[in-house]
Amino acid sequence: MSDLKVGFIGAGGNARGHMSRVAEIAGATISAVCDLDGPRASAAAQEYEARAYTDPMELLDAEALDALYVSVPPFAHTNVEIEAAGRGIHLFVEKPVHLSIDAALRICEAIDEAGIITCVGYQLRYLDPTQKLKKWLAGRTIGLVTTTRWGGLPGTPWWRVMEESGGQLVEQTTHQIDLMRYFAGEVVEVSARYALRTMGEVEGFDIPDAQALWMRFASGALGACTTSCMAVEGGGKGDLELLLKSQRVGWAADRVTGSPELPELSGPYAQTPNIDQVFLDAVRSGEHKQVLSSYLDGVKTLDVTLTANRSAERGGEPMPTRLGKG
Ligand SMILES: NC(=O)c1ccc[n+]([C@@H]2O[C@H](COP(=O)([O-])OP(=O)(O)OC[C@H]3O[C@@H](n4cnc5c(N)ncnc54)[C@H](O)[C@@H]3O)[C@@H](O)[C@H]2O)c1
Repeated sequence: MSDLKVGFIGAGGNARGHMSRVAEIAGATISAVCDLDGPRASAAAQEYEARAYTDPMELLDAEALDALYVSVPPFAHTNVEIEAAGRGIHLFVEKPVHLSIDAALRICEAIDEAGIITCVGYQLRYLDPTQKLKKWLAGRTIGLVTTTRWGGLPGTPWWRVMEESGGQLVEQTTHQIDLMRYFAGEVVEVSARYALRTMGEVEGFDIPDAQALWMRFASGALGACTTSCMAVEGGGKGDLELLLKSQRVGWAADRVTGSPELPELSGPYAQTPNIDQVFLDAVRSGEHKQVLSSYLDGVKTLDVTLTANRSAERGGEPMPTRLGKG
């Protein structure tokens, strides 16, 4: 595969970021872009000298792609992943990978059958602090892991609509939940309580603005998470803390701290590999080991957050995850 032909479904803000990085990768060409919004598709296609589409199936039928990015809002996932897998096209799917576990599992089956490379945009896994901490944790017993993701309200209109985004936990705090799974293993049970406290007046807003949940991991460790988008003016926070025997560890995107101190986990840190380069290198070589989050991994993280949504609907009843044991 000397020249990789790459297509895009979705040409919104996030896809544009991937496009600009893919365009810099030697031997990769953006050949087709599809967005339901025609002018959006055309503008991106024109910039990268690609063909524009407004119908994903038309794109798949007309183009001989090696790799496809699916970067659409959570509610907008269709059968495009199954159709692409059936054509042997490798897939980069943005998180959250779906809003339905059943539909996502059908996509997993198609992926398995096709044997394609998949990658989900959990880029925090690739950070050097994450990698150093992951190695350090091997063989150690985690007692507790907690995270707090507090921030503001993203501008995309679908984000504030429960049926379209699944809410902040599913759409955004999925990054922190994914890291909790990466460090502490599978989650088997979740209990969640949600509230709408201060943002009910915001136009079109029907998601909770305060979400709190606890988790039980297969290892026996416990986890807790709070998330909110009330901090309209920013003041974001998205760190994790882990408690082990006689050791407290703090993870942030740019550092790992310990108490007592852990010099082996402090910086300087290596530069983060570009997730698009990692994905396309895997496509080119057929070797997926460098990809740190496959589609199935994305489904497992989704499972935790959707289980929290179900628990919150039932007043905080503890609910088993569907995939935590598998
Ligand atoms: N990994 C990350 O850190 C990260 C960051 C931002 C966004 N994201 C994810 O990327 C995805 C897109 O987010 P965004 O901010 O670009 O949203 P956006 O609203 O800016 O763009 C989404 C685009 O998808 C198009 N679209 C919707 N349904 C479609 C369909 N069926 N076929 C083709 N196009 C369709 C819309 O017209 C829109 O242009 C979301 O899943 C989001 O969670 C990931």
